Amino acid sequence: MKLSVAVLPGDGVGPEVTAQGVKVLKAVAEGRGHVLKLSRGLVGGTAIDHCGDPLPQETLALCMRSDAALLGAVGGPKWDNLGSGVKPEDGLLALRKELKLFANLRPVKLHPALIDASPLKPEALRGVDLMVVRELTGGLYFGRPKRRWTSSKGRSAVDTMRYSEHEARRIIRVGFQLAVKRRNRLTSVDKANVLETSRLWRQVAGEVAPEYPGVALDHMLVDNAAMQLIRNPAGFDVIVTENTFGDILTDEASMLCGSMGMLPSASLAREPGNGQAGETRFGLYEPIHGSAPDIAGRGVANPVAAILSVAMMLRLSFGLEAEAREVEDAVGKALSSGRRTADIAAGADSLSCDEMGDAIVSFLPKGS
Ligand code: IPM
Ligand code: MG
Repeated sequence: MKLSVAVLPGDGVGPEVTAQGVKVLKAVAEGRGHVLKLSRGLVGGTAIDHCGDPLPQETLALCMRSDAALLGAVGGPKWDNLGSGVKPEDGLLALRKELKLFANLRPVKLHPALIDASPLKPEALRGVDLMVVRELTGGLYFGRPKRRWTSSKGRSAVDTMRYSEHEARRIIRVGFQLAVKRRNRLTSVDKANVLETSRLWRQVAGEVAPEYPGVALDHMLVDNAAMQLIRNPAGFDVIVTENTFGDILTDEASMLCGSMGMLPSASLAREPGNGQAGETRFGLYEPIHGSAPDIAGRGVANPVAAILSVAMMLRLSFGLEAEAREVEDAVGKALSSGRRTADIAAGADSLSCDEMGDAIVSFLPKGS
């Protein structure tokens, strides 16, 4: 199969971790006889430095003619106070919006060997295996008005949380579909005691539910969800929620797996894996972590999130389930055999980003 992949390393640790993702992708393609076509593009602060635009037209065009994109991370202190007001993050947000990637899938699965890497007690963590479905192209991130101004009363600012029923329905459906393939439980997270958008969201979820009679739907307020994720994380199967809540809850949930460096994500413009002929298979795959400027350039970042993002790409953009599992198994074996980057080593000896990538490649099946 021909795999045409855009590689967008971005900023900070982005280039280090995407290099390991690419290494794994190349090894899998070679082992399985796929033809890999990689093309690099600029995004984020690095793109601002090169051409003043966090999402250059060429990068967008590159993504549009690729089957999938692997992104590292964007942002960093260097670009915090640019006079022009452009921010690296705008590049990522524009990419998500332009490519209509409304469905962001963030699996949170604890590898048993990492149970001690999490700051939570082992007994609270057993069996953690949940999926957060985050709405990615609406809500506070994109709603208008969005601006700052100064008047006689001083400075003010506004962001707008806006959702249409269409936007809520399509992402809630993704949540139900994933629940059907998992353990048939869907938790819709909102703030319906305060927010009008949440009341609409909750109503729409109730309307969609009869389409999926086998799935148990419950509603949870986001503050309670934040608490339940710590109190009883294994109680969750699929969570579906709006953009900002999903952003916050997934950083929290990453600590259930030991580190921010462990969680991959997929961003899709469609419902995942219904496999109809002619459906767009493009997806953007990226670690949920940021550019980690504090450790960037030192070669110590954890590449697992980027590598597991490659597994999601193989599964969701290319339908290569066996290859996806090979990658996930190789990560599992590397962790089981004690390979660790500094973030999950609890002070013990650790591997560099590059060595961790090599270790994972060494656990891939040879020349299948
Ligand atoms: C994420 C990140 C992004 C977001 C930032 C970099 C804009 O935190 O993917 O979770 O807020 O969506
Ligand atoms: Mg985030």
